Amino acid sequence: MFVVHLVCSFFSKLQEDPTKKVDRFLYAMRLHDDQLSDISACFQAEMKKGLSAESNAAAAVKMLPTHVRSTPDGSENGQFLALDLGGSRFKVLQVKVREGTGIRKGGVEMEENTYPIPEELLTGRGTELFDHVSESLKDFLHEKNISLEKKHPLAFTFSFPCEQSALNQGLLLNWSKNCRARGLQGKDVVQALRGAIDRTGGMDVEVLAMVNDTVATMMTCGFDDQHCEVGLIVGTGTNACYMEELRHVDLVEGDEGRMCVNTEWGAFGDDGALNDYITEFDRDVDAASNNPGKQILEKMVSGLYLGELVRLVVLKMAKLGLLFDGHVSDALRTKGKITTAHVAAMEEYKDGLKNTRNILVDLDLTPTSDDCVAVQHVSTIVSFRSSNLVAAGLAAILTRIKQNRNLRTLRITVGVDGTVYKTHPRYPNRLHEVVRRLLPECDVRFVLSDSGSSKGAALVTAVAQRLASRRRKVDETLSPFRLSQEQLQLVKTRMRAGLEAGLKSKGPSAIKMLPSFVYSTPDGTEHGKYLALGLGGTNFRALLVNFKKGLQQNSQLHHKIYTIPLEIKQGSGEELFDHIAQCVSDFLDYMGMKNARLPAGFTFSFPCEQTAIDRGTLVNWTKGFKATDCEGHDVVSMLREAIKRRNDFDVDIVAVVNDTVGTMMSCAYEDPQCEIGLIAGTGTNVCYMEELKNIEKTEQKKEEEEEMSEGEEGKDDGTERERVEGDAKTPKMCINTEWGGLGDDGALEDFITLYDIEVDRNSLNPGKQRFEKLTSGMHLGEVVRQVLLDLTRGGLLFRGHVTEALKTPGIFQTKYLSQIESDRLALLQVRSILQQLGLDSTCDDSIIVKEVCGAVSHRAAQLCGAGMAAVVDKIRENRGVDHLNITVGVDGTLYKQHPHFSGVLQETAKVLSPRCNVTFLPSEGGSGKGAALITARQKMEL
Ligand code: BG6
Ligand code: BG6
Ligand code: GLC
Ligand code: GLC
Repeated sequence: MFVVHLVCSFFSKLQEDPTKKVDRFLYAMRLHDDQLSDISACFQAEMKKGLSAESNAAAAVKMLPTHVRSTPDGSENGQFLALDLGGSRFKVLQVKVREGTGIRKGGVEMEENTYPIPEELLTGRGTELFDHVSESLKDFLHEKNISLEKKHPLAFTFSFPCEQSALNQGLLLNWSKNCRARGLQGKDVVQALRGAIDRTGGMDVEVLAMVNDTVATMMTCGFDDQHCEVGLIVGTGTNACYMEELRHVDLVEGDEGRMCVNTEWGAFGDDGALNDYITEFDRDVDAASNNPGKQILEKMVSGLYLGELVRLVVLKMAKLGLLFDGHVSDALRTKGKITTAHVAAMEEYKDGLKNTRNILVDLDLTPTSDDCVAVQHVSTIVSFRSSNLVAAGLAAILTRIKQNRNLRTLRITVGVDGTVYKTHPRYPNRLHEVVRRLLPECDVRFVLSDSGSSKGAALVTAVAQRLASRRRKVDETLSPFRLSQEQLQLVKTRMRAGLEAGLKSKGPSAIKMLPSFVYSTPDGTEHGKYLALGLGGTNFRALLVNFKKGLQQNSQLHHKIYTIPLEIKQGSGEELFDHIAQCVSDFLDYMGMKNARLPAGFTFSFPCEQTAIDRGTLVNWTKGFKATDCEGHDVVSMLREAIKRRNDFDVDIVAVVNDTVGTMMSCAYEDPQCEIGLIAGTGTNVCYMEELKNIEKTEQKKEEEEEMSEGEEGKDDGTERERVEGDAKTPKMCINTEWGGLGDDGALEDFITLYDIEVDRNSLNPGKQRFEKLTSGMHLGEVVRQVLLDLTRGGLLFRGHVTEALKTPGIFQTKYLSQIESDRLALLQVRSILQQLGLDSTCDDSIIVKEVCGAVSHRAAQLCGAGMAAVVDKIRENRGVDHLNITVGVDGTLYKQHPHFSGVLQETAKVLSPRCNVTFLPSEGGSGKGAALITARQKMEL
């Protein structure tokens, strides 16, 4: 009998085991590992959706870029004010950061005050909430005796979802948790704070960075543990951030390095993704919340809701007679009567049951021991579910990081904060255990943020401050390169004055205005086979052209390009011309024409004083040439002599032409409106058709003018080609301006920067070609290098290391400038170009180098545009017309290959010469074709 009784009592105990009935009742809340794995996989998919530009708008999990690009590296320092708004306590702090990471090396000192926020402010007007924030800040400054006069940088931890396009800007997407102040949604919260600080007045505070609490927590913990690349909050709300590869963050430009992404995982489930796991209690909590339908995961996990979930479960069980003999108190019916603190107390190791009883008694209930055990178990299931869901989310993030980095195992630290994690006695262990079970291959450590998130926010701000100061200094350095419209107008005026002075002066002038003895542009009657030789651009070119009468499009071209080694450019004149003759000989071999004595045009792209079409005395070398015994000599004779010395071929050099003239002729062959030639390449120069009467340089020209006008009157060459507007009868000659010399008389003094002075000083021709040194391919790279040297010496680039590569003149050739500035080029590619040049750059360095190249080339294009405006306006005035249509034939690697140069040049010319309609026609086949056309005309005239 006794045995029977014992057995019965044992079974009845079993049946009555209060935890069992709770387990059954809350079956849906008890998540198994396979369910957690499913949730984790689903969250991974949500993260991808949020990161992608196409699906972000529809994604529940917003994956917000934070513009925090690195975890602390020990270089941060400074003294900051900090605001910590959005957690359970609003705090104002002062944070002092000393250089060096970790407790031992560097250090952080903090002072803080907590300021209560009256309930009504959380649901009142946003401006009032922020006024309270800034008044608390002022109070803090008073209390801590912090100077009100001094400027203080401020770090702002704002723990709500914000869309940031920079560190110091963030649009509030929506409120979460218990705040819903009006008028801030969709607004820039940093601006709102600045506005409030202004309204409060009497403080000089600069808000430099705004960060989410997850980010600030990751940074706080990252100060002591460099593996910390995830931040987790399980507090009033819940959220996580982590370091994502920038190439996956579609919403931010760039593909190199990492950026911290604030997942805002609290919203996981807002699109129904968690519907399978949601219980009636979750639905009730959601319905009674500030933001129904939103933050579904957060409502299953975070401190604001855990107590309420427990209350609703206990209430329902009581109503069903499963607890308290079916008795329900008013207190138990009241929202908020069970808090997360109660949940934590109920689960305490030793006193848990006692605490549970006290809590229930306080709710006017009379619990039995079984009731206490059951309610404690409800609490356990609710809080366990929370840590399980957090574990599933973390597992998704860690798996993603592992995949991103292509690792089999991952060693990582998660920085954690929040009252639930900090105060619930069992929460951390449960969470750690489940994460490790879900990810056995990862070595995951959890670090509790010891001092709140403000330390981390200050570290972010320290970086922002350094970047802001670097920004200011880079801006200051580049500001002399940024020319105003007034300055450009001045350049135009000075160019015009220089052109006029050059035309008048019989002696030397800054702009030489050299007569070319080319009196007209082609008319289409040119025919025959010609050789064209070109020296002076990037290469030496040899060309064979065959013109057919009236068939401009079909002139046949065969060419070969030869490089001129530096030692030849700067050796003796004889060597240089022997080298050219050697190239011509090779070309004739190549064409199988060694025995034909072809008429040849010689494009010689340096300033030559001409006395006839086939006589030109080199005035001075430019563009890195320095061969001896050439200046002051006739270059045609020198070439003829070199050919004679070889004695293996013969050519008939009929004309020597500047490359600008060749280019103009070549383009005029296609477009009769072309009366200007422009070169923007290794050097820069312009030629144009000037009226003979304006060329006062030599009496000889005057005589020619008279002869010409007599000749022109009776002349009719029978071609059908249209002549240039209106003034076909006016005798003209093409003038090679040599505009590169503008400024050689000091006319550009107020535009010349320290860097230009340095470039000029180190050049082969100091004091000469000042305009060219601001505008041409050969010198732009040098200007860029001088700026980079200065920025590096100032510690703003390349970590302050002036390397041998950077000290090497000429490393930035035009082609590199063009590549670096290409919009299509990703930052990573810019970095690889710099690496090719021996410059080891970070991502930030590459951005600055690109910016320097941009400023220097933009100025160059604007200056050429202003110069061009002077030329076209002069032609318009020559013709006495109100409006001029004209074409400029253009060549040169800067013009043709640089991504922005031509556009900026054209735009500037257009703005500065509004009465001219200028068409820019890139030359095809180079200036050689033009030289051949001149040769053809000469031959035809003979
Ligand atoms: C604090 C941080 O320690 O934790 C805050 O300083 C953060 O920035 C908060 O928002 C989160 O926890 P809770 O529980 O206060 O919301
Ligand atoms: C070429 C012309 O296309 O451009 C040359 O044929 C000219 O005559 C040259 O000198 C200028 O460009 P760059 O960039 O080679 O100096
Ligand atoms: C809420 C906020 C989020 C914050 C989290 C923890 O989920 O939306 O920005 O990080 O709470 O405080
Ligand atoms: C230099 C030369 C000039 C040439 C120009 C473009 O400025 O002095 O003659 O036209 O470069 O090549």
